[in-house]
Amino acid sequence: MRKKIVAGNWKMNMNLQDGIALAKELNETLTQDKPNCGVVICTPFIHLASIAQFLNQDVIGLGAENCADKEKGAYTGEVSAEMVKSTGAQYVILGHSERRGYYNETPEILKEKVLLALKNDLKVIFCIGESLEEREANKQNEVVKAELEGSVFNLSAEDFGKIIIAYEPIWAIGTGKTATSDQAEEIHAYIRSIIADKYGKQVADDTTILYGGSCKASNAPELFAKPDIDGGLIGGASLKAADFKGIIDAWK
Ligand code: PGA
Repeated sequence: MRKKIVAGNWKMNMNLQDGIALAKELNETLTQDKPNCGVVICTPFIHLASIAQFLNQDVIGLGAENCADKEKGAYTGEVSAEMVKSTGAQYVILGHSERRGYYNETPEILKEKVLLALKNDLKVIFCIGESLEEREANKQNEVVKAELEGSVFNLSAEDFGKIIIAYEPIWAIGTGKTATSDQAEEIHAYIRSIIADKYGKQVADDTTILYGGSCKASNAPELFAKPDIDGGLIGGASLKAADFKGIIDAWK
């Protein structure tokens, strides 16, 4: 059975003190009231080492939001997959539409990042999803297929098994405009079908596919009830413990 996961993506929010306070609050709450799904928080790089000190990683996994496409060396300002791993983090988000859009991360760059993350034993949350324009032109299937082919369908079946997919329609991210549960299910089922075409039914059945884009406690139960939606990647609603816990509780 594939794993159900609720992952938070803090983005560029929370200074170190506020981030530690939020992680501590989540740690206490979820250690007392154990979740019915995997929980991950992905934080800015600078938070990772401090949060790893106290986080009960049996209950909450820790991840970065990005890593470099180079192994090491003269790349001022970059943070490598090995550095992320050395903090105690176990996950990394790659291919987020904000990285693709604002920082020009191409499929080729992301392919390198994925390889380096896996080489360093990080689990990858790999994001895909279409823009509003592409959705209106009914090109969403084409877009997500190309994104998978461009950066992760080169992997062996064994390595692909370490990838969590996050489908995040760009038009739903931070906009308050969620995809309907039917819209999300339709494309999640399509994503699972192309994984099956590439790696076979077993691998496809075992792949966790998260939905992201204005997911909150009020709409999570309906989204998570769909057979091909295995949880969520949560931006805005992961910044307050109560909001995030509300989404996690959708699995109860
Ligand atoms: P949102 O962001 O929940 O704020 O829409 C989701 C994401 O970008 O991962």
